[in-house]
Amino acid sequence: MRTLRLGVLASGRGTNLQAIIDACQSGLLRAEVAVVVVDKATAQARERARRAGIPEYFVDFSAYPTKEDYERRIVSILEEHGVELVCLAGYMRILTPVVLERYRNRVMNIHPSLLPAFPGLAAQRQALEHGVRYTGCTVHFVVEEVDAGPIILQAVVPVLPDDTVDTLAARILEQEHRIYIEAIRLYQEERLKIEGRRVHIL
Ligand code: GRF
Repeated sequence: MRTLRLGVLASGRGTNLQAIIDACQSGLLRAEVAVVVVDKATAQARERARRAGIPEYFVDFSAYPTKEDYERRIVSILEEHGVELVCLAGYMRILTPVVLERYRNRVMNIHPSLLPAFPGLAAQRQALEHGVRYTGCTVHFVVEEVDAGPIILQAVVPVLPDDTVDTLAARILEQEHRIYIEAIRLYQEERLKIEGRRVHIL
C-alpha cells in the first residue's frame, strides 16, 4: 500500500500533530505529514512541523475579506502538497463547505469527549461540571455541523473523584493520541466505510 499524504490543520500546542508525526516516522502509520497549516502565528504546532522538516504555513484569517477566501487559500496549500486526508488537530475554527466539499469524507477531527456529549469548547470542563463518571474522546469525520460527523473511534476515560480539569484533560489526551493514530491507520488501510451516520470498520 502506498504512503498516505496528510495535511494537518492546527491552532495551538500541537500534541496530536506530534503524535501523528511520530507515528509516521516510526512506521506505525504508512503516512506522511505533507503540510501543516495554522491560523495562529504563535502556534507551537509550527515549531513541531519545522523540527520534523515539514512545510508549515501560517494563514492569517484577518488578511482575507471572507472566511471562504481564507479557506480557498488553505485548499490551495493542501492541493499544492498533494494532501489526501485532512486531520484537524486542535484547529479552532469551524470549516465551511469550501474545504468540506473539496475533501468530502476526507476530513477527520479529534474531540475530547464522548460525542454527542459535550460538543464545542472546554469539553473536559463540561464533563467534570456535569458530574459524569465516564468521558473520553472521539475521532470523527467532519461535516458542516460542529462535532457532529460520523464517529470513527472513541475511547472511554473514567472521571476520578479528585480530578481537576487539567488532570482529566491529561488522561484524555493520552487516549486522543492513541485513537487518532488508529483512525488514520484504518483510513489508510481503506477499512472505513461510511453509511449514513455510521462508520463501519471493515
Ligand atoms: C485536543 O484536546 C483536541 O481534542 C481538541 O483540541 C486539543 C488540541 O490539543 N480538539 P493539541 O494542540 O493537539 O495538543
